Amino acid sequence: MKISYFKRFKMEIDLADAPPVPMLPEGFAWIAWEDALVEAHAEVKFHCFQDEIDATVFPSLGNRTGCHNLMGEIRRKQGFLSAATWLITGPSGNCGTVQGVRERYGLGAIQNLGVTPSHRGCGLGSALLLKALEGFRRAGLQRAFLEVTAQNDAAVRLYRRLGFRCRKTVYKAVEQTAGALTM
Ligand SMILES: CC(C)(COP(=O)(O)OP(=O)(O)OC[C@H]1O[C@@H](n2cnc3c(N)ncnc32)[C@H](O)[C@@H]1OP(=O)(O)O)[C@@H](O)C(=O)NCCC(=O)NCCS
Repeated sequence: MKISYFKRFKMEIDLADAPPVPMLPEGFAWIAWEDALVEAHAEVKFHCFQDEIDATVFPSLGNRTGCHNLMGEIRRKQGFLSAATWLITGPSGNCGTVQGVRERYGLGAIQNLGVTPSHRGCGLGSALLLKALEGFRRAGLQRAFLEVTAQNDAAVRLYRRLGFRCRKTVYKAVEQTAGALTM
């Protein structure tokens, strides 16, 4: 067993600077939060993250049970914000997820933005993020933040493009068995 350190950026945005929520491509629709959707969010989260770098950084993202438990934890947080928690559904089922939490000091925290691999690159990730930011704004918040693994180029590009800026660099220690991915 060895410990690897993953560089992560804490990025922030002033919600007044966030672009408006775009229309979804034809055939796709928003699904607003309700408690019966914990499992649906967990399932999409699993499909989005299972083969990605964040499943190494946060092993619970790499299996169904972990994603289910994580979704339950997010739902039970005191600051869980249904207005910033959305699914996108499309012709082949649910394909995108995001959750939002109001942290102390009135900051919105984006949790686990994900789009399933076959639906990437057509604007769904941007739309989900902007929908969550709109939910924060409607809840009266002024700023939002997220954390992203530095080597997750697609996500870092997306966040920068939409106006997030890096405020801090942190390192996440992860225990890995021999042969596992390192940075
Ligand atoms: C990060 C993630 C959510 C992005 O989702 P996405 O749906 O591909 O995001 P978008 O389509 O909005 O943007 C991706 C690219 O497609 C481009 N794009 C957006 N709409 C487009 C369209 N209509 N036609 C062509 N390209 C388009 C964007 O400009 C962007 O290009 P870039 O990579 O050069 O910046 C997705 O890659 C993912 O789920 N990754 C795994 C989970 C993860 O790591 N999440 C982040 C945790 S912090």
